[in-house]
Amino acid sequence: MENSNTRRNFLKQTAILSTGTIIGSSLFNTAFASEKNTNSEKHILEAAIVNAEDIYTLPKLAYSYDALEPHIDVTTMEIHHKKHHQGYVTNLNKAIESLDKNLIDQSKTLENIFEKISKFPDSVRNNAGGHYNHSLFWTLMKPNGGGNPKGKLAEAINKDFGSFEEFKKQFSDASMKRFGSGWAWLVVQDGKLVIGSTANQDNPLMRLRGKGLKGKPVLALDVWEHAYYLKNQNRRADYVTSFWNVVNWDAAENLFNS
Ligand SMILES: [Fe+2]
Repeated sequence: MENSNTRRNFLKQTAILSTGTIIGSSLFNTAFASEKNTNSEKHILEAAIVNAEDIYTLPKLAYSYDALEPHIDVTTMEIHHKKHHQGYVTNLNKAIESLDKNLIDQSKTLENIFEKISKFPDSVRNNAGGHYNHSLFWTLMKPNGGGNPKGKLAEAINKDFGSFEEFKKQFSDASMKRFGSGWAWLVVQDGKLVIGSTANQDNPLMRLRGKGLKGKPVLALDVWEHAYYLKNQNRRADYVTSFWNVVNWDAAENLFNS
């Protein structure tokens, strides 16, 4: 009976979603509605979206699919957002629906899920990571982006890496050296900026055993082949170079300051 109710709720929420009025998920939609929303990255980190009555949704981008041309091509952006990211959202909702509801009620936000990630099956780890990482990634790019960071983030980069050029070199190296699929990150760890990478859809917020990267994300780069193969084929280095032309440093600074 409970399963049937849960299923009904899921279907009901899917129907509500199509009208764009679902309340919990509006955090994401609001976050991506406008580039002027300086709190957008904070909203992602606070995203409280899921419980038995609610579902995750695909965030809208603050720019059009062709807005990052010629650096990131329109076809890649559209497929990446509409197909790949949507796939993580759809599969996360399916994975959550099949879980013990006590576990979900105690873990309503993505951050809470990441803190207890070892209690969840791989279907949640992979798809919650995929949803969070991509949601963050879209905000970290913008048309006419690139250039240099400013303010306190620029100061911290200079302090912890010596110079912006040295930071770019180390971040690019981390992007290139991640074998297979994964993400490169700039995070705040124990009050210091640290560069690293994670495999698959893991992220630095996940409490996983081992030496993996931990910290609060400031910058993220998707280095899965689906992020660049249509335009760059096997040339990941060209894609990383393109990324520097679209980085949204204002968003990164907001994350750093939050
Ligand atoms: Fe991706």
